[in-house]
Amino acid sequence: MKIGLLGYGKMGKEIEAIALQRNHTVPLKVDEHNRDAITEKDVQTCDVIIDFSTPHSVMENIRLVLNSGTPLVVGTTGWHDKITEVTANCNAKNGSLVYGSNFSVGVNIFFALNKYLAALMDKYEGYETSIHEIHHTQKLDAPSGTAITLGKDILEKLSRKKQWVDHPTNVASDLVITADRIENVPGTHVITWSSEVDMIELKHVAHNRKGFALGAVIAAEWIIGKKGFFEVKQMFNF
Ligand SMILES: NC(=O)c1ccc[n+]([C@@H]2O[C@H](COP(=O)([O-])OP(=O)(O)OC[C@H]3O[C@@H](n4cnc5c(N)ncnc54)[C@H](O)[C@@H]3O)[C@@H](O)[C@H]2O)c1
Repeated sequence: MKIGLLGYGKMGKEIEAIALQRNHTVPLKVDEHNRDAITEKDVQTCDVIIDFSTPHSVMENIRLVLNSGTPLVVGTTGWHDKITEVTANCNAKNGSLVYGSNFSVGVNIFFALNKYLAALMDKYEGYETSIHEIHHTQKLDAPSGTAITLGKDILEKLSRKKQWVDHPTNVASDLVITADRIENVPGTHVITWSSEVDMIELKHVAHNRKGFALGAVIAAEWIIGKKGFFEVKQMFNF
């Protein structure tokens, strides 16, 4: 397949390497320096586009690719509040889009474990839960898209929590998500369940970015021939 990359930073370069290993070509590489020159026609020269750009540029990139009719994989985070708008636009254009706050296989298994544990904990009110994430210092959004997905999944299963917040609070129905930024950390997420008598921790540590990149290329292969807005969990289907 011909894969076009919107965003050619740390992730774009990892994705290019994996795409070439899997016998795809990468004829289109776009970053902030050449983005203004890119038209729908340029996008249409590719079979599929993968966007790992920035929270500020992703909405305009999604519009461009949906208008072009080319299937799209979005890994960029920081736009979770616009999902309804993007889904509507995708459906109106009869487009093909798969979004994942995290494309790694390990994290998607971790998502499934998180939901399972939250469902078990629903009837054990003595356990208080919180989420903590650590990423490298260049990351623009906080908390991470992955932490927000973990939080939303807990809210879906745990009736005593009503919303997630990004600061410490004494409100029992708030689920606290905290974030640290430390040099060279690709991504660490910890979910803690603590009671008076014990504690359970679920922890995922990314050693590098290759897992995210492989998942994004697999998603690009998977979205071909499908129509609609998908989340990566539908692809993994654990
Ligand atoms: N979903 C996942 O699995 C996953 C994994 C890692 C990172 N991410 C997310 O992917 C995004 C990129 O991460 P990164 O570490 O590669 O960042 P990065 O800063 O290294 O790269 C961002 C790239 O986007 C380019 N860019 C800026 N404006 C652009 C525009 N208008 N159009 C196209 N490109 C533009 C920059 O020039 C740069 O090449 C972030 O939102 C990050 O949170 C997602």
